[in-house]
Amino acid sequence: MEQLKVGLVGLGGQGRAHAKALLQAQQKENYPCKLAAVCDVRPEQFETIEVEFNIKESSSVLGFKNYPCYTDVDEMIAKEKLDLVIIAIPTYLHCETAVKFLKAGIHVLCEKPMALDVEQCDEMIRVAKENGKQLMIGQCLRFWDEYRILKSYIDSGELGAVRAGMFYRGSDTPKWSFRDWYMHKALGGGAVFDQHIHDVDMVQYLFGMPNGVSTNGKIIYEDTNYDTVCTNYIYTNGPLVFSHNDWTLSCGFAHGYRVNFERATLEMGAGGLILSVRGKDPERVEFTRSSALSNEVEYFAECILGKRVNDINTPENSRDTIRLVTAEIASANQGAAVVHP
Ligand SMILES: NC(=O)c1ccc[n+]([C@@H]2O[C@H](COP(=O)([O-])OP(=O)(O)OC[C@H]3O[C@@H](n4cnc5c(N)ncnc54)[C@H](O)[C@@H]3O)[C@@H](O)[C@H]2O)c1
Repeated sequence: MEQLKVGLVGLGGQGRAHAKALLQAQQKENYPCKLAAVCDVRPEQFETIEVEFNIKESSSVLGFKNYPCYTDVDEMIAKEKLDLVIIAIPTYLHCETAVKFLKAGIHVLCEKPMALDVEQCDEMIRVAKENGKQLMIGQCLRFWDEYRILKSYIDSGELGAVRAGMFYRGSDTPKWSFRDWYMHKALGGGAVFDQHIHDVDMVQYLFGMPNGVSTNGKIIYEDTNYDTVCTNYIYTNGPLVFSHNDWTLSCGFAHGYRVNFERATLEMGAGGLILSVRGKDPERVEFTRSSALSNEVEYFAECILGKRVNDINTPENSRDTIRLVTAEIASANQGAAVVHP
């Protein structure tokens, strides 16, 4: 079977998560991609990858020494014959780096958030079209088991219509990044662009673009924009939808949702995925855990190979998500005034 040659740019936290997911998945029969080369401006990132691999030559620590390693994307583009690149570098570099690869005729899977403003998103979409290459953004919740299950309950209608949904996410403050880019809004957009965006994108995926947003926000750190936000998404005649994000938690990473349908409530939280059908005992929803990142990469590769059309996670959807987070910040700046995205 044809396997696409994948370049990976950025070997920080998320690049390593992609490397782990890809190196594990590519051992499966019929997985449509394989890692071909890596790039990071810091050569020390090639030395070790602190994740466990289920492959012959590794124990628990594996470097990238068996792969061509580059410290410059232009050199990588010039020397490698890549089909697809995964871009996992700080957000302020997404647009210019994606554009470079697309112009070189390479399909691009770029990490979320797509970019720091809608104009950059438009440019990425335009260059992809002009060069006949596919672009997808790593809004990985669309490929995440519990959120896929929620989407299928909504689409099937078997539990009735959604009355209300609440989505939450949070973590400790990310003070460990490359040149501290997470902590500067001009580089990463702050918690709203970087972390809250997962739930914003999910809200948009499940319920469409809201008519308005109203956001309350609190600034804790000097230059990060809002560090904790609460947003109401206004759907005229639709469900009540609310989301909370906070990256100043003391309890570590947490995410989940509670969606109330006419005949049941589905809850994702620390206790697992629980379905409570009215009049019956709550039940744990059983599923086999899969990797959202390898699902996402596999899906994109199948789109590139012409086996399916991307109707789950289009770049236009990702641009709309950037429109939404931009509207949320505008709302928070006006004391939670309703802003129409
Ligand atoms: N999908 C998710 O759930 C998820 C989770 C975490 C991060 N992310 C996203 O992934 C991206 C990277 O985040 P991170 O946490 O890995 O950041 P990080 O700071 O840990 O790592 C960034 C890496 O990029 C490298 N780098 C910087 N400039 C480069 C360049 N011009 N060329 C090549 N390499 C370069 C740095 O040396 C560093 O190793 C961000 O957009 C972030 O929002 C997504």
